[in-house]
Amino acid sequence: MDRVSNAGPGSPGSAFGVPEPVVLVRDLRKSFDGQVVLDGISLEVGSGELVSIIGPSGCGKSTLLRCLNFLEVPDSGEVRLAGHGLSRNGGSWRRADEAAAHGLRSQVGMVFQSFNLFPHRTVLDNLMLAPRAVKRTDRVVLERDARALLDKVGLGSVAGRYPATLSGGQQQRAAIARALAMAPRVMLYDEPTSALDPELAEEVLGVMRTLDAEGMTQLVVTHEMRFARAASDRIVFMEAGRIVEIAEPDVLFSSPSDPRTRRFLRQFL
Ligand SMILES: Nc1ncnc2c1ncn2[C@@H]1O[C@H](COP(=O)(O)OP(=O)(O)O)[C@@H](O)[C@H]1O
Ligand SMILES: [Mg+2]
Repeated sequence: MDRVSNAGPGSPGSAFGVPEPVVLVRDLRKSFDGQVVLDGISLEVGSGELVSIIGPSGCGKSTLLRCLNFLEVPDSGEVRLAGHGLSRNGGSWRRADEAAAHGLRSQVGMVFQSFNLFPHRTVLDNLMLAPRAVKRTDRVVLERDARALLDKVGLGSVAGRYPATLSGGQQQRAAIARALAMAPRVMLYDEPTSALDPELAEEVLGVMRTLDAEGMTQLVVTHEMRFARAASDRIVFMEAGRIVEIAEPDVLFSSPSDPRTRRFLRQFL
């Protein structure tokens, strides 16, 4: 199935009996001070897909991820995420937009290059803070859930430690577990392994593979071409604020259809 083009505007496939994609982006545009950074991005991601986003520095990858959950407000375009949606066409940011953005964010877990754990909280507390703030759940249940997530990412034994005492790989796995604690439908990663030595990066990539096997939908901005090739269902190549090419990994790496993709990939060979 070609998930890039199977849905008409405003009716994302559902009218034809095709399941709605978990992530749907239509004609997303964003400029900073007159400089176009996203120049009409459209993308659909199906449930359980792992999609890697690659492209040269400055091409808009981080801005795209940030626009997906409205950490950055796009100038125009539409984002739909697990049934929550928001479209913009210029104009001021209204209260209803904020409510819609809040709905989108509730579906998304985000992981950054720099871990961003709360330094003065234990790993366990890092996982429990947000769920405690939004859920009226018993502390015992919250702690049980948090410990189960830490076990899943291999950090059960360091639950009581502070982030600074962990390796970078452990901190990033804790950051992933913390994002998972809010039960997101989609995980977004912005160069999650760029700050890590190769063997520590491998621990983090392993967690992402596990989540993939469990059916999590994931979008990963990465420079790890081996991971992108081995683990992605599809790879998005961006340049200068546009998607140049979307393809399955073997197709993209062995016979990219656009010369710009070929030129970019050549530097990793
Ligand atoms: N908050 C901002 N204000 C002004 N310019 C920005 C801002 N964020 C990003 N940019 C610019 O947008 C372009 C794309 O940045 P970014 O999305 O971070 O690219 P990438 O993640 O692909 O390296 C760059 O030229 C960057 O300088
Ligand atoms: Mg970036």
